[in-house]
Parts: sequence; C-alpha cells; structure tokens
Amino acid sequence: MLPLRGHRAFLTTTCAFLCATLLLPCRAADYVQTNTSHTPNYELLPGISSVPAPVTVAPDQDWMGIDGAWNTFSLRVGSSQANVRVLVSTASQQIWAINDMACITNVTDPATGEIVEFNTLDSQCQDSRGYLYNTSNSDTWRKKGFYQLWIEKNLGLVGNGLYGFDSVGLGLPGEKGPYIENTTVGTLVTPNFWLGHIGLHPKPTNFSTFENPVPSYMTLLFEQKNIPSLSFGYTAGAQYHDQTVLGSLVLGGYDASRLIPNNLTFIFAPDNERDLVVGLVGLTANTTTNQNIDLMKRDDVTLFIDSTIAEVYLPVEICEAFEDAFGLKRDEATDLYLVDDALHQTLLAENPSVTFVLGQKYSTDATVRITLPYAAFDLEASPPYRGLQNKTRYFPLRLGNNPNEWVLGRTFLQEAYLTVDWERQNFTLSAVDWTFGKPAEILPIVSPKYAVSNDPPGPRKRLTSAAVIGIAVGGGFCFALVMCAIGWCFWRRRHKRKLEAIKAKYEAEVAAAAASKKHAATPEEHATSPVRDSTEGRTVFPKAELPGISAVHHELSSGVEEKGSLTVNEADGTERQIYEMPGDMPVLQEAGGRQLSEKETMVVRERIYNGIDPTGTPDVSPTAHDQSRRLVQISPSEVSMVSGRLPTDNVSPITPRTPRDGAFLEASDTFFQLPPYRPRDGRRTETDDAPLSPISPLEGSTDTSRRRFSYES
Ligand SMILES: *[C@@H]1O[C@H](CO)[C@@H](O)[C@H](O)[C@H]1NC(C)=O
Ligand SMILES: *[C@@H]1O[C@H](CO)[C@@H](O)[C@H](O)[C@H]1NC(C)=O
Ligand SMILES: *[C@@H]1O[C@H](CO)[C@@H](O)[C@H](O)[C@H]1NC(C)=O
Ligand SMILES: *[C@@H]1O[C@H](CO)[C@@H](O)[C@H](O)[C@H]1NC(C)=O
Ligand SMILES: *[C@@H]1O[C@H](CO)[C@@H](O)[C@H](O)[C@H]1NC(C)=O
Ligand SMILES: *[C@@H]1O[C@H](CO)[C@@H](O)[C@H](O)[C@H]1NC(C)=O
Ligand SMILES: *[C@@H]1O[C@H](CO)[C@@H](O)[C@H](O)[C@H]1NC(C)=O
Ligand SMILES: *[C@@H]1O[C@H](CO)[C@@H](O)[C@H](O)[C@H]1NC(C)=O
Ligand SMILES: *[C@@H]1O[C@H](CO)[C@@H](O)[C@H](O)[C@H]1NC(C)=O
Repeated sequence: MLPLRGHRAFLTTTCAFLCATLLLPCRAADYVQTNTSHTPNYELLPGISSVPAPVTVAPDQDWMGIDGAWNTFSLRVGSSQANVRVLVSTASQQIWAINDMACITNVTDPATGEIVEFNTLDSQCQDSRGYLYNTSNSDTWRKKGFYQLWIEKNLGLVGNGLYGFDSVGLGLPGEKGPYIENTTVGTLVTPNFWLGHIGLHPKPTNFSTFENPVPSYMTLLFEQKNIPSLSFGYTAGAQYHDQTVLGSLVLGGYDASRLIPNNLTFIFAPDNERDLVVGLVGLTANTTTNQNIDLMKRDDVTLFIDSTIAEVYLPVEICEAFEDAFGLKRDEATDLYLVDDALHQTLLAENPSVTFVLGQKYSTDATVRITLPYAAFDLEASPPYRGLQNKTRYFPLRLGNNPNEWVLGRTFLQEAYLTVDWERQNFTLSAVDWTFGKPAEILPIVSPKYAVSNDPPGPRKRLTSAAVIGIAVGGGFCFALVMCAIGWCFWRRRHKRKLEAIKAKYEAEVAAAAASKKHAATPEEHATSPVRDSTEGRTVFPKAELPGISAVHHELSSGVEEKGSLTVNEADGTERQIYEMPGDMPVLQEAGGRQLSEKETMVVRERIYNGIDPTGTPDVSPTAHDQSRRLVQISPSEVSMVSGRLPTDNVSPITPRTPRDGAFLEASDTFFQLPPYRPRDGRRTETDDAPLSPISPLEGSTDTSRRRFSYES
C-alpha cells in the first residue's frame, strides 16, 4: 500500500511540478478548438469534413492612444499571462508589447526641479501604454536581441525593439482564447509607437540572412489549426456614433453583420511591405454650405491601407485642397493639422463629410465609396505625441511627400471594414454597417488547403455572364499575345538582317578608320557601343511587348541593362533581387498609379500562372513551392539586424541617432533611456539633429478617466 501511495504522491508531485513549470501547456489545454463544417461560399475538398472555426477576438471596453482614441484588444503574454492592450497592425507580422522600462522615470520635485525619487515605475504611463510586459516575470521569455522595428520607417517612425520569443494568447487572462507558445515578441520603449500591436501579416520574420525565417503569429495560429485560413476581417470601431461601437477583429473569417457588401475585390500589390494598396479614384467633400468639393487634385494616387498608424497620409496637392476647403493649418513644429477651439466650432458647424472613392485601375472598373463624417477626423492628441506639450485637437491628415508615404490609417478604418485573404492575395473594403444591435454573423474564409471557393448562389447568374466576358477578354488577350509573338519573330528576323548590315557597314568603317592612324581610337569606341547597345536592345525588347512586365523590368531593375543577355530566368532573378532590397522599394512607388496597377496585375498574374514569385527568395527550401507562395519568405529581412547581439543585457533600445547610417544601439547603465522625442518627417530632417527636450513618459499619460478598467464586463 505504502509504495503505491508513494507512487501516487510521486505522480501528483510530478504533475504539479509539470503544471508549475509548464504552466502554459496546462493553460493552453483550456482552449478547446472548435471546428465547423458550415462554410458558405467554400466547398470543402474531398476527405475534409470540417475546418477550424474563425476566431473572434473580443475588443476591450475602452479607448486608448495619444494620437486619438482607439479601441484595443487584449493579449496574454508570457508565462505570467501579463495582460497587454494592443492595437491591430495590418502591416506587421509580429506581436509588439511595451517594455516595462518604457515607464521608468525619475520623479522630480516640481518646485525645486530636483529628483526626489529615482527610477520608479510611473503607473499613469503604464496604463496609458496599454500595460507593460516585464520580460523578467516570464519564465518562457527567450531573448533574441535588439533589432530595428522596420515597419513604418517610410514615415520616419524608426526605433529599435528588444526582441525575443514568448507565448502569446488572445484575449484576457482567464479567457479561453487560442495560444501560441513560442512566437516573436518585440518589446518597445520608443514613443513613436505608443501602444503595442498584434500583427496580422503572415510574412515571416528574418532576423538575419543566416537564420531560418521565423513564422508569423498568424501562420502559427493557422499551422496549429486554430483558424481556417490566413485571413482576417477588421474594423477599428468608432466612438462618435450615437452608440459607441467597438472594433471588430475576426481571424480566419469576417463579420458579415458589420459591413455593407460590394462586389469589388482588390488584388495585392507585389510588394509585401505595401501590399494592401488601393487606387484613389475620387475624393470629394460635402459641407453644410458647399456640395461636392473636389479634393482630388492629383490623379495617380495609390494608398496603402495600414492600421498601424492613426492618420491618413495624402499627397501635398490633396492636403492643400483640404486646407483650402476646411481652413486647416499645418503646425510647423509638430507637422500636425492642429485644430483650435475657433476652428473646431467652424468645422462642427460646417460638418464636412469626406468621401473616398477607391478602386483598382486595370483590374476592374468597380469602385467602392467610403464616407467619413467630420467626427471621424475630430481627434485629440496628447503629449508626447510629436512633441506636443498640451493635449490638442487635431485633424488626422498628414502630408506624404512620396508615394510610399501615402497611407490610409486607422482613422479611415473607423468607417471601413477590411477583409484580407492572405492566401488568395485579395482583399475587400466595405463601408461599415452602423445598424445597431445586429447579431454578429461570423463567416469563415477557408484556406485553399481545405476548400475551393465557389461563388455565392445569388449573384452566380450575373457572375456567369461576367465570366463569359472574362473568358472572351482573356481569349482576346491570348490571341493578341500570340499575334505579338509572331509579329515579333518577323520583326526580329528583319531587325537581325538590318543589324548585320549595320555591323558589316561598321566593320567596313572600322577597317577604313584603322587605315588612318589619327582617328584610330574613335571608331573603336563606335564599333563597340552602338552595336552592343542595339543587340542588347534586341534581347531586352521581347519583354517590352508586354507593357506591364516591361515597366517592371525597366523601372525596377538597374541590372537589366548591365547584363548581357536576358533569359527569362535571369529577368526573374532581377525582380527577386529588387523586392528583397528595401532600398529599391520607393522606385516601385514612384511609378504612377496606372503603371503600378499594371505591374500589380502582371506580377500577380506571373506569380499565379507561371509560378514565378517575384517577392520570394530563390527556392532554397523544399517547402517553398508546397505552400501558398505568400508564405514563402517574401521580403527583405523584415527586421534587419541592427548591430548584432549585444554584449550585455543592460542596453537601451535608443532611437537610432544616425538613422540613415543604419542605426546603432548604445549601452547605458542599468536602465533603458527614453530617447528624446523627435518629430520625424521627410521635410524636417535638417532640424532632426537638434534634440528637443527629453519628454518624460509621465507626460505621456492620457486622462485618468480612461485609466481604470475592470475586467468584469
Ligand atoms: C478541424 O479541422 C482540421 C482541418 O480539416 C482537422 O485537421 C482537425 O482534425 C479538425 N479538428 C477537430 C477537433 O475536428
Ligand atoms: C520586472 O520584474 C522583476 C522581477 O519580478 C522586478 O524585479 C522588476 O522590478 C520588474 N520591473 C518593473 C519595471 O516593474
Ligand atoms: C534618473 O537619474 C539618474 C541619475 O541622474 C540617471 O542615471 C538615470 O538615467 C535617470 N533615469 C531616468 C529614467 O531618466
Ligand atoms: C522558438 O522559436 C524560435 C524561432 O522559430 C526557435 O529558434 C526556438 O528554438 C524556439 N524555442 C522553443 C523553446 O521551441
Ligand atoms: C454631397 O452632395 C451631393 C449633392 O447633394 C450628393 O449627390 C452626394 O451624395 C453628397 N455626398 C456625400 C458624401 O454626402
Ligand atoms: C457590381 O459592380 C457593378 C459595376 O460597378 C455594378 O454594376 C453592379 O451593380 C454590382 N453588383 C452588386 C451586386 O453590387
Ligand atoms: C499648455 O497649457 C498650459 C496651461 O493651459 C499653458 O500655460 C501653456 O502655454 C501651454 N503650452 C503650449 C505649448 O501651448
Ligand atoms: C478572393 O478571391 C476569391 C476567389 O476569386 C473570392 O471568392 C473571395 O471572395 C475573395 N476574397 C476577398 C476577401 O476579396
Ligand atoms: C531570409 O531567410 C531565408 C532562409 O534562411 C534566406 O534564404 C533569405 O535569404 C533571407 N532573406 C533575407 C532578405 O535576408
């Protein structure tokens, strides 16, 4: 009896020990995966009877941020299940949480200015930044090192994060949400990003060229069979409607009750750092005194949908149109359109509503209209946002100097519902349905691994005729291609003959010139350059017959002309190379909206039908082709190594002092130092080096009324 009891005691102890040390698996086991076989619009593949049900991430009940008021979502990070409140990032693939060092401060006596308390935790800051993640409280935290944050560097939002791996669950502690045990977590101090985020992009993180790409959070959820596909539906929610409407985030599906359906499907742009791109077809405003004010002062505008940032970044011409129409003034110091009380009253009286008409030229004529009321733009910024000293109303419009800065941020997603299918590389934007009290209607988006999509039964008839037209157009296109090819063959033959004639002529000339010693050098130059140029022109030319492709090659690849002969494969190599080099990205964006759309179409087409993945790496891994191409390593190192592993733990992720030189990190004493906040903008780089006064995180707190939040609902 005794040995048995001993045995049992041993088992109990072991179990308790296991549960204590491996708290996660125990907790994770709490989550019961539910599958569904109700997949409208998708036909399950043979042998598959059910797929994981989409996951609805419940929003928190409050609104946070220093650049407006945004509804957050809760995550549980680490073995201690630290609750952090985060935003949603459609551009990032990582989980970001605010490092506990972000809110360490020295308390000064306001009268004497002397420090009365050293290095204390500022609880207002802690609440304002969506609670902190203390890595030393997590047994499962595995530190990786300091890396550049990378995303949003186009907008000057640079900084470093302390990266590592830890467990991340969806929802509040105690809630039974899916759980990933070992995923990339970036911990931040920089005030450039006030709150953390949950990254929804499926691209992997490449910490360095020498390491395997680390799968994204979404990919892990999918591989763990928690979600039916790499896809999501998201809208930011809005405080300003009659009833406060919280945000909505569905992973692996979308909430059909939150949107007004339309039949426009966008396809991805080829750059995986800027893939959710829409064309701006129209931009108008109505006020109480003026109807149909045209704000569309530039017509090649493509906008990247990115929930990571708050504002809407538009080209200078359009910003000026806004200034003229609404009397907005840009504040030089902060680069924000600050709204004082007088202007606020005027704007309330004028009550402007702005309508974005969005489409995708050259892939469809359909457009979608999203109207934002003034209330959507009536935001409040708090210090230390962009160096502000006081809480101020602002109009979330920002100046984008380059096409790669034009963004539709979270402001826009208050009125738009975004559904993205990463695997099929398409997305939809819909106006939000504000009907209050509609029950949620969560519909799954099912991965091509599990199902084929079929058209909804209703509009099938209409779509069939569309399909007929599509086939006709497609057939016509093929015919045109064949004709072009034949034409080119003839042309090439004739051209070759011509070239030979020219060559012969040159040879004769060279021979003649050689006779005259005086001009010996000149003909030699001539003899090589024009002939070589024209032969190269000939080898490059075939590509030029497909306008889209030629645009890609000519604009993007500097290497094309240097390479002697261009086989198809080599050209593709060049493409890949280009998308892998971040430095080349802006070139892509400099192209007009029209060309970009063509490029998008062509590149996507190429990727789908020819199996060429311009955004992928050479197929080194055997899995490269098994999965959806999107899953293959797509981009440059999403997080590029800053300066390697650092010698000590006590290092501060300081905003790079010399961001253009690739940024370096600096070792400090025991604590992270808060970098002086520098408003950064392409236009103001000269002044960047003049440090503004450091802003204590204390000042960063928002009003305390928002601070308290109880978990019970
Ligand atoms: C849920 O669906 C997936 C995909 O079809 C399948 O692999 C898994 O076994 C299912 N799980 C359950 C609990 O039925
Ligand atoms: C983080 O946790 C460690 C260990 O519990 C503790 O010593 C430290 O003070 C915490 N940091 C903050 C900022 O609270
Ligand atoms: C607090 O003051 C000490 C001594 O001046 C300094 O070393 C430390 O960096 C300060 N901490 C912060 C968070 O500013
Ligand atoms: C966690 O994931 C990283 C990156 O994929 C990997 O290098 C590491 O070995 C994993 N750790 C554990 C404990 O599985
Ligand atoms: C603006 O006013 C015009 C004319 O009354 C109307 O046709 C249009 O729909 C209005 N646009 C918005 C966004 O309300
Ligand atoms: C789909 O788009 C076309 C073109 O804009 C439009 O004529 C048609 O009414 C739309 N159909 C639906 C169901 O919205
Ligand atoms: C901030 O507000 C305070 C008090 O209202 C005022 O004295 C100060 O001048 C303001 N600072 C700025 C930069 O506007
Ligand atoms: C993506 O394309 C598929 C197939 O054409 C379509 O069924 C689906 O609705 C599209 N998804 C989105 C989010 O637009
Ligand atoms: C990312 O990682 C893969 C696999 O290790 C590697 O082949 C590729 O070159 C890396 N990409 C970049 C841009 O570093």
